[in-house]
Amino acid sequence: MSALELPSGGLTGSVDHVLTARRSVRAYTSRPLSRELVAGVLDAASSAPSNSNTQPWRVHVLTGVPMKELGDALVKAFQERSLPPSTHFPDPLPPALSERQSDFAQRYYGALGIDRSDVEARARQTQRNFSFFGAPVGLIFSVDGSLGRHSWLDLGLFVQNVMIAAKARGIDTCPQVSFARFHSVIAPFLQMSPEQVTACGMAMGFGDPAASVNRMDMPRQRMEEFTRMVGFDEPVGAAAHG
Ligand SMILES: Cc1cc2nc3c(=O)[nH]c(=O)nc-3n(C[C@H](O)[C@H](O)[C@H](O)COP(=O)(O)O)c2cc1C
Repeated sequence: MSALELPSGGLTGSVDHVLTARRSVRAYTSRPLSRELVAGVLDAASSAPSNSNTQPWRVHVLTGVPMKELGDALVKAFQERSLPPSTHFPDPLPPALSERQSDFAQRYYGALGIDRSDVEARARQTQRNFSFFGAPVGLIFSVDGSLGRHSWLDLGLFVQNVMIAAKARGIDTCPQVSFARFHSVIAPFLQMSPEQVTACGMAMGFGDPAASVNRMDMPRQRMEEFTRMVGFDEPVGAAAHG
C-alpha cells in the first residue's frame, strides 16, 4: 500500500472514533509519559496543513522540575494579579456564544461541586491550569507575533492534530488558553526568541477515569445548526445561470 492509499474500508470509523473520544481532561494519574511517546505525537501532528506550508507553530515540552518551576511562577503572577485581565473573548460575546459559555460554566463548576458564586473556589480551579491539572507533561505553543489570523488558524490545526494523535495513542490532553495572558512570565522562563508570543498551553498525560471533572458531557450544536448546504437539492447537472 502506498502512503496515499487507504486500507480497504477506509479509516472513517477509526478517525471519527478518535475525534469523538477526545475530551478535555482536567485530572490525571501519576503515570509518566515518555519522551518517545510525546515525540511520536508531535511528529505525527507536524503533518498539519498550513498556508503556503509556512508551519508557523513552535512548541515547548515540559516535565519534571522545570514544569513545576514554571507552574509556581505562574501561580505567583496569578495570585499577585500583576497582569492585565484576560482578553480572550470580546466583551460582550455574541449572544449565542455567551449562552454556550454560561452552559459550559454551569457544567464545569457543577462537576467540581463549586458554587458559581464562590469566587475563591473558582479562582483556585483556574489556578490549576498552571500546574497543567497535574499532568506529567505540559506543552506551551507559540507563534511569531507578527503573523495574522490565518497563521493562527494554521497553529490551531496543529494543536488539534496534537490532541488527536495523542488520543489515538491512548493519551489525554486539555488545550489551555489560560497561559496566553502570562507571556511575560513564560517567555523568559523558556528563553523564547523575542518575536514569539505564547498562544496556548496543553496538559498531556493519562486521565483519571474516576474524576467527575473528566466525565462531563459537553454538548455540541447539531450539524444542521451550524451548516448551510448550497446547491445540493438542485437537479444534477442543472446550470447555475441562464
Ligand atoms: C483554544 C482553546 C482554549 C481552551 N482553554 C482552556 C483553558 O484555559 N482551561 C481549560 O480548562 N479548558 C480550556 N479549553 C477547553 C474547552 O473548555 C473545551 O474544549 C470545551 O469545553 C469542549 O469540551 P471538550 O474539549 O471536552 O470537548 C480550551 C479549548 C480550546 C479549543
